Amino acid sequence: MPASTILVLESPETALTSLVPQLTSAGYTVTQTTDPDEALATIVEHQLAILDVGVPDAPAKPTKSAKESKDGKEPKEAKPEAVGTRTGIDLCREIRATPAMAAVPILCVANSDDVEERIGFLEAGADDVIARPFDAREVEARVEALLLRFQRSKHKPPVVSSDGLTITQARRVVAVFSPKGGVGTTTIATNIAVAAAQRRPDRVVLVDLDLQFGAVATHLNLSAKQTLTDIVRDEAVLREPELLRTFAMRHDSGLHVIAAPTTPESSDFITPDHISQLIAALLEGYESVVIDAGSTLDERTLTVFDAAETIVLGVYPEIPALKAMHGLVEHLAESGSIGAKAMYVLNNMFARDILKRRDIEAALGTQIGLDLPYDAFLYLKAVNEGVPVVMGAPRSTAAERLGKLSSTAFGTDGVVVPAVEPRKKAGLFGLRRKA
Ligand SMILES: Nc1ncnc2c1ncn2[C@@H]1O[C@H](COP(=O)(O)OP(=O)(O)OP(=O)(O)O)[C@@H](O)[C@H]1O
Ligand SMILES: [Mg+2]
Repeated sequence: MPASTILVLESPETALTSLVPQLTSAGYTVTQTTDPDEALATIVEHQLAILDVGVPDAPAKPTKSAKESKDGKEPKEAKPEAVGTRTGIDLCREIRATPAMAAVPILCVANSDDVEERIGFLEAGADDVIARPFDAREVEARVEALLLRFQRSKHKPPVVSSDGLTITQARRVVAVFSPKGGVGTTTIATNIAVAAAQRRPDRVVLVDLDLQFGAVATHLNLSAKQTLTDIVRDEAVLREPELLRTFAMRHDSGLHVIAAPTTPESSDFITPDHISQLIAALLEGYESVVIDAGSTLDERTLTVFDAAETIVLGVYPEIPALKAMHGLVEHLAESGSIGAKAMYVLNNMFARDILKRRDIEAALGTQIGLDLPYDAFLYLKAVNEGVPVVMGAPRSTAAERLGKLSSTAFGTDGVVVPAVEPRKKAGLFGLRRKA
């Protein structure tokens, strides 16, 4: 994608092994600087920012000169790299906290392959991290992936404040996942989707991609006549957003729902390609897509993670669940696939808490975005009756938290989205499935 312009901020040290020559030979137009103020002033003119200035607590590696020291003295530890007094992490945070710059994707360069260092960058808001030494093909692949994502995000509808000023971009694809089953993934997905649909009826779709035993339809008391299996059977459906809409069931809240296959074996035919085509087509026909991604990590789930702008990761206060989540985070940090999209939700599914929130945050190595209260009766009633908590008990604390989670996940927290009439589309109305 050679016409793109990339800003590369380096420190005098990292500039010695700069990745700029590689980017220019790949055809990108690069602005190279070692001045962070200049970088911040010009970042919005670029499609991607690469911060190659290190982190403060990166594991120190001996410098080349220290390694070669033959005077018997302890080799000096490499100083963490930084430009001026700001580290890469500081700059990342600054960019993410400034609305005008927040949409520019950031690729951070780590000093080493150390997981802690990568997590530090991702927590500060980096979209991806790459470690020294570089592999030329990997640099190009990651840069290209980020540029593509940035282009896609330009088509997102803006969220507008009540005084008419555009203040942020709404996130459009929210996935809910847990590396462990029974954690409340479907409860969370259905409730945040219903809450979003109550705000924007007929503009939100919930897809059940828990391909083994998806339970979204049951949680919403819907009986699916057509499922994902029928959708992937006909290639034309995935190419035609209007036709795809006819495969969704309409819930009373105004939410549209695409049900999971009814048997585990019928899901075997669903490929990662199907999933990415499905999400792309849904984004043409809906404003927001919520995905119940279940608890199985495979190529299809990774495709969902890639397309999602927010990944709600549910965990409950139990050691095996925390270990599973920690394992997932490490695994994904390695491949750089979730970045700053992750949002951790602690679902208090036990009457007594032995583990405190701060223990859980310490075990996960990250902050919990929100916690859902325990309720012995409310959630069970909701699943048994097929009426999500946000509708069945809207004044409960659980509903209030789930509603908040919905707006936080979509980035619509505290802002009013203006009513816009849906775009009328020509054709295919004759094919609409009868409800
Ligand atoms: N905070 C909570 N307090 C009490 N019960 C809860 C809470 N959250 C969810 N539950 C109950 O836990 C059960 C499992 O929830 P749910 O089906 O949403 O989990 P899941 O992770 O999707 O499970 P699966 O792996 O089977 O898909 C349901 O009966 C639900 O009502
Ligand atoms: Mg489930």
